[in-house]
Amino acid sequence: MKIGFIGLGRMGRNMVARLVKKHTIVAHNRSPEPIKEVAKKGAIAAFSLEDFFKKLGDKERIVWLMLPAGEVTEEHVIKIMPFLKKGDIVVDGGNAKYTDSVRRYKMLDGKGIRFLDVGTSGGVIAAKIGYCLMIGGDKDVYQKLEPVFKSLAIEEGYLYCGPAGSGHYVKMVHNAIEYGMMQAMGEGFELLVNSPYAKEVDLHKISHLWNHGSIVRGFLMECAENAFSKDARLDKLADYVEDTGEGRWSIQEALERGVPFSVITQSLYVRYRSRQKETFNGKVLAALRNEFGGHAVKEKK
Ligand SMILES: NC(=O)c1ccc[n+]([C@@H]2O[C@H](COP(=O)([O-])OP(=O)(O)OC[C@H]3O[C@@H](n4cnc5c(N)ncnc54)[C@H](OP(=O)(O)O)[C@@H]3O)[C@@H](O)[C@H]2O)c1
Repeated sequence: MKIGFIGLGRMGRNMVARLVKKHTIVAHNRSPEPIKEVAKKGAIAAFSLEDFFKKLGDKERIVWLMLPAGEVTEEHVIKIMPFLKKGDIVVDGGNAKYTDSVRRYKMLDGKGIRFLDVGTSGGVIAAKIGYCLMIGGDKDVYQKLEPVFKSLAIEEGYLYCGPAGSGHYVKMVHNAIEYGMMQAMGEGFELLVNSPYAKEVDLHKISHLWNHGSIVRGFLMECAENAFSKDARLDKLADYVEDTGEGRWSIQEALERGVPFSVITQSLYVRYRSRQKETFNGKVLAALRNEFGGHAVKEKK
């Protein structure tokens, strides 16, 4: 198949490298370097949107967006609209909020343009082993693009999840689960470095061990093993954890639907806390303890 790909970041450029083995890929990106890089692997370079659509040709076009969710994706959907015609297919493979995907589906549907939301998981390692794809939209469009999903995914690694928005909804929940699992690992390792065995514990060896037959083995534990192999106590890292939205959105969903979401909510709060050098909450607690119990407080330096 012929596929146009916009967004050649950490995910996009690897996905193109995988797709180009079986399909014709026209690749476009804001900065030119990644375009040149994927062109060396066999993709057709397009340095402008005009050039991109010219190279995609006149037949039913497939445009895959792999961009940061929110404004950047929105901006690109608007930018490509004048180039699109009835029957073209737009795929958003980024981590968009599912309500945005439903809105985009409706907006494009009004012009006869088809839209699929494809939650993509697997991170950068998936470049080698294949991705996990959660697909939402009209089933006939999904079926049409199945050869593309097959080429991108690991074996049994793609699923039609349901109507518009469902792909990104399932991905949102996937990422929410990831928050909770990561938080549990962070807390467990923190206890180990504060344990009576703190001096002796070797987090690299322990995570390596846990990846061999234990119940908590798995991809995230492999990531931990890799990280500890490079920096045994993560001394080089600052305690600052970002989030890209899926945690917040899933918590909002859970609140609205009355679903208890305690572990995942707490995990997001810990990420927020990690960004605050000094917390007012902590100051209030210290002041109250000092007031009611005369407990010592530390003066600010
Ligand atoms: N990284 C992961 O593990 C992962 C996993 C699953 C899903 N995702 C999702 O996949 C999408 C892409 O992620 P990524 O990790 O590949 O991101 P990334 O490495 O940060 O790449 C972002 C891409 O978007 C382009 N871009 C950023 N801001 C732009 C702007 N204002 N205008 C035009 N282009 C802009 C960048 O172009 P330049 O090259 O010019 O900067 C680059 O091609 C996101 O929605 C992300 O949430 C990521």
